[in-house]
Amino acid sequence: MLNAIVMAAGKGTRMHSQSAKTMHKVLDKPMIEHIYDTLKKLDTDNIVFVVGHGSEQIKKYFADKVIYAQQVPQLGTAHAVSVADELKNKEGKTLIINGDCPLISCDTYRQILKMADEYPLVLLTTTPDDPASYGRIVRDGQEVIKIVERKDCDEQQAQIREINVGIYCVDNKLLWQYLPEIKNDNQQKEYYITDLVEIFRQHNLKVGAYHCLDWQQMQGINSRLELIKATKWLQKKINDYWLNNGITIVDSQSTYIGEDVSIGEDTIIYPNVRIEGKCIIGQGNVIEEGTYLSNVNIGNNNHIIASRITDSAVGNNVNIGPNAHLRNGCKIGDNCRIGNYVEMKNTVFGNGSKCAHLTYVGDATVGEKCNFGCGVVTVNYDGKNKFHTEIGNHVFVGSNVNIIAPVKIADNTVLAAGSTITDDVAAGDMAIARSRQQNKVGYGFKYLNK
Ligand code: UD1
Ligand code: MG
Repeated sequence: MLNAIVMAAGKGTRMHSQSAKTMHKVLDKPMIEHIYDTLKKLDTDNIVFVVGHGSEQIKKYFADKVIYAQQVPQLGTAHAVSVADELKNKEGKTLIINGDCPLISCDTYRQILKMADEYPLVLLTTTPDDPASYGRIVRDGQEVIKIVERKDCDEQQAQIREINVGIYCVDNKLLWQYLPEIKNDNQQKEYYITDLVEIFRQHNLKVGAYHCLDWQQMQGINSRLELIKATKWLQKKINDYWLNNGITIVDSQSTYIGEDVSIGEDTIIYPNVRIEGKCIIGQGNVIEEGTYLSNVNIGNNNHIIASRITDSAVGNNVNIGPNAHLRNGCKIGDNCRIGNYVEMKNTVFGNGSKCAHLTYVGDATVGEKCNFGCGVVTVNYDGKNKFHTEIGNHVFVGSNVNIIAPVKIADNTVLAAGSTITDDVAAGDMAIARSRQQNKVGYGFKYLNK
């Protein structure tokens, strides 16, 4: 059995924020969600979040996905672990994770877990360019003797460059057996989980250290500067991956692609594009400047220009934008055109249908091979409720038509330009709903020359 305790109760003073520290986003996800997703990939059986400052925010976000342990007041990292006592009688190994250390890869965790088969306590260490305020790893030859917090270091210990990352794997039974032995006789008068190293050694239990060379992956995030450094590091890691896997990213620095995005070969991404959440993007797409995609499923060979698409699906060979907005569960078929300043919401738009300019389509089902003129509005809201518009196949909607829902427009119909459609239209018919034009002879000339 694998358990995990994620420590996220601290105030994060150096963030200067109203928000819980671990809810600040690295790329597209809160720090703590990166950790959660990694733990899920590792098939962790029980995940406990230790929360304190900003606990409501974290609980709202993760709801019942994890177990929560409240830590008030916060008396240090060992105290944080001690409140996760739901795990007390569990079998197996327990990962203890600093909530502000989100970038550790699954592979690194797997190495630690492998080592934990042999050692009842394993810690993760690295050697950064600047050991800064991290806890120092004191070794005797190969063996780790103890971790000394920067504030408790003597001059010699302060010179040590190998540091404690804040990720540990420990035999769960032994953890709960020896946790009460941790004291707070240090500079900060806090209970340090790092003291477990010395305690395990006193009881003749082996302590292992997995030293990882890639120190940037190990960085703790304590300030906004460190948050953005981490974001940039992850951005580069992800973009380099795609550049090596058949995607052209014209300007990697200005392109942000989340971890949960997959992209097919020969897709080209121009500068200033952000792709977030769970996205599947097919092959041969061209995604131009100023596009934002979140939770979308995009087929192949589409061309998207400066548009925003969220929680929606798009087929193949579709042209979108510039400045189109598709949201709330739109499903766009193949060979469609969604043009300038078109907004669609919760709409199914059939194969080969076109909507090229200045139009709002909301809560509608549109069949195949329809054509919308400029300035069409599905009037879906009466101020209290939303209503559905149903449009069949091969329907021509003239410019400036208002379609007042609920209404059904059958196949092979024409809605004349400028009409306000309030009633159903039967198959094969044309609907005209506008007042007749009167021409007043000579009035124009008179008016202009008054
Ligand atoms: C800790 C380690 C240090 C290590 C560094 C790596 C200790 C004593 N020190 O120091 O050796 O090099 O991480 O980044 O563990 N937290 C709680 N409750 C508390 C205290 C902390 O939940 O009472 C949480 C914080 O929210 C944070 C994490 O534990 O997510 C680490 O705490 P932090 O104060 O950032 O520890 P560091 O000083 O960075
Ligand atoms: Mg920290």
